[in-house]
Amino acid sequence: MLDILYNRRSTRKFSDKKIEEALVKQLLKAALLAPSSKNGQPWEFIVVDDAGLLNQLSLSKPHGACLLKHAPLAVVVAGDKTKSDVWIEDCSIASIILQLAAEGLGLGSCWVQIHRRFHDDEQTANEFICNLLHIPSHLEVLSVVGIGYKATDRSALGTKETDWQKVKRNSYSKA
Ligand SMILES: Cc1cc2nc3c(=O)[nH]c(=O)nc-3n(C[C@H](O)[C@H](O)[C@H](O)COP(=O)(O)O)c2cc1C
Repeated sequence: MLDILYNRRSTRKFSDKKIEEALVKQLLKAALLAPSSKNGQPWEFIVVDDAGLLNQLSLSKPHGACLLKHAPLAVVVAGDKTKSDVWIEDCSIASIILQLAAEGLGLGSCWVQIHRRFHDDEQTANEFICNLLHIPSHLEVLSVVGIGYKATDRSALGTKETDWQKVKRNSYSKA
């Protein structure tokens, strides 16, 4: 586990290799078992592997979603706002669990932020995706996680990026 946490990087370039169905199931099982407030599990996952839909998802916002165009798989993580007041936290945890599970299965992934992002001047990225995938209005899309076999390996972040100044002990500042 620590090996995954220390070495994981976001993957935005995927090979053409399709992800085996057994792996897709393992990924989703990990997400379905993620921790959530009061075990409310307010999430729903929409698995997308249709090339036309993946292309559409890549257009959900002007920047930062284009990686989805060439991903073999995307998991849309949506939260039920009527089930939990902390659906954002719960769906964020499910999203990172998906990413860590992907890494553990030898896959790469990248989180695409949808919550609070806009498709254009008239439509939010959430509205765009809900229209595209026929998602009902009590759900809101938090993220789309693009997943696939890595086309390139990225080096791990190292000592330089490990900012120990962000860690305090017992008191934020010395009195
Ligand atoms: C909440 C959140 C939103 C993110 N949104 C995007 C996004 O929309 N597009 C993207 O390409 N990467 C996105 N990322 C990935 C970050 O850019 C990436 O994690 C960060 O640059 C650190 O790089 P690393 O994951 O390779 O360590 C997001 C990550 C998080 C946690």
